[in-house]
Amino acid sequence: MLDRSDNIPALPPQIARRRTFAIISHPDAGKTTLTEKFLLYGGAIQMAGQVRAKGEARRTRSDFMQMEKDRGISVSASAMSFDFGEYRFNLVDTPGHSDFSEDTYRTLTAVDAAVMVIDGAKGVESQTQKLFEVCRLRDLPILTFCNKMDRESRDTFEIIDEIQENLAIDVTPASWPIGRGRDFLGCYDILNDRLELMDRADRNKVAETVRLEGLDDPKMAEHIPADMLETLREEVEMARELLPKFDQQALLDGTLTPIWFGSAINSFGVKELMDGIGNFGPQPQPQRAEPRQIMPDENKVTGFVFKVQANMDPKHRDRVAFVRLASGHFKRGMKLTHVRTKKPMAVSNPVLFLASDRELAEEAWAGDIMGIPNHGQLRIGDTLTEGEALKVSGIPSFAPELLQNCRAGDPMKAKHLDKALMQFAEEGAAKVFRPMIGSGFIVGVVGALQFEVLASRIELEYGLPVRFEPSQFTSARWVHGSQDKVDAFANANKGHMALDNDDDMVFLTRLQWDIDRVERDYPDLTLSATKEMM
Ligand code: G4P
Repeated sequence: MLDRSDNIPALPPQIARRRTFAIISHPDAGKTTLTEKFLLYGGAIQMAGQVRAKGEARRTRSDFMQMEKDRGISVSASAMSFDFGEYRFNLVDTPGHSDFSEDTYRTLTAVDAAVMVIDGAKGVESQTQKLFEVCRLRDLPILTFCNKMDRESRDTFEIIDEIQENLAIDVTPASWPIGRGRDFLGCYDILNDRLELMDRADRNKVAETVRLEGLDDPKMAEHIPADMLETLREEVEMARELLPKFDQQALLDGTLTPIWFGSAINSFGVKELMDGIGNFGPQPQPQRAEPRQIMPDENKVTGFVFKVQANMDPKHRDRVAFVRLASGHFKRGMKLTHVRTKKPMAVSNPVLFLASDRELAEEAWAGDIMGIPNHGQLRIGDTLTEGEALKVSGIPSFAPELLQNCRAGDPMKAKHLDKALMQFAEEGAAKVFRPMIGSGFIVGVVGALQFEVLASRIELEYGLPVRFEPSQFTSARWVHGSQDKVDAFANANKGHMALDNDDDMVFLTRLQWDIDRVERDYPDLTLSATKEMM
């Protein structure tokens, strides 16, 4: 368990003002719209509509491929930095498609908080639940935005109850909606004792704020019809009695989530949420590493790679490694040590992501995300330091849930296929296994769509048509134990053994029964469905 920010003495202001977070939601709840409004208020884009292209691209398969080809968009949208008041926000995108849950998991290792968006009519949906559980594993603080309040939505207490029950987290209302659906007028801002009114006429207009002295302020009646005002007073009173009070420490511990009600498309409630992230959200947090934890205010720079993405130009096999700075003040041109290979690395052209533009980073601080273009040296899980042999821990790799044989359309080009597959393995886009017996490759992914994306990228980037065919195996487990025991096991089960892209031994099977048998017959070995990235 990490020490949370309350244990860190005051951080230097440049670090303390940083808020690095991701948005999690079920598809269609409004993540793209909310992101866009964040960027709008952060001054990173001038008008709504610039991010939307991406949200739509994701929806259909062919468009998704197009987006992959046009990777410029997704690269720059993977991390976005912008200022909001005194704060610097680093918003890290999580892939929306459920097929990419592993990528999402790793992304969540690079942030200090998550904003959970739910649809006011639908409440907690399956994907939200899954992503929430991932956040929970890391005790990430979560701020909740209940979106689409301009539409017919559920009863406010019902929504809050559902979150408390399904997700087992305390919920405190940061705001309270006034009216629902067509009658939705705005919110009473509980944290600041303010009335916020929505402007339905202009979607990009920031809501009107009316300052109040408590719920009994006579100014309330100037804006809210008498019956709705009565309901509001009753509900807020009840909420204050029944629901937990706002408590910043509980938010930082991940046991309480404040909820804001709003309508992203109408720009309503978004600013209050952003204020919440800034004022109450976590500062850059300590990072788990071996042999010691890294504190954000250490003078020396450390960072780790949580994502690798092929570069925009498919003809150049360059990649961008996304690095989360865990400590220090980075300046362009710095020489860092690539801990895995112990080699120095001059970071001369790092990229900071400002909305849809990529900008050369001159400097970055703990908490920031930067892109480092490279030719394949940087892999997921790698640590960069100013010399110390630290290794960031807790970045997992999951056993794939789908396995297929991959063959080159032209057998003469099998070597190129090897190279292509290794690239994707290093990017984290697939697992590649070389069976001990026979030739060829078995490729493992988490979601079926990834096979199609891989096939299209191998053809596009390597000019190599490939076929994916069903494999006799359905599960892969890493084998751990002393070398001699692992070797003896491998020799006795050659037909099931393979090496993964890091040359680690893997047991392939199609039966859970097989896994149980191995665990019973080989008590000195363990089979695991995850391994930590090197
Ligand atoms: P996602 O990234 O989570 O998948 O959601 P996205 O923002 O793309 O929003 C999904 C749909 O919900 C979009 O409608 C969007 O306009 C709509 N939406 C987002 N916020 C609100 C809101 O506050 N109120 C209402 N009523 N709708 C909202 P769409 O029809 O799929 O796309 P579009 O044609 O509107 O662009």
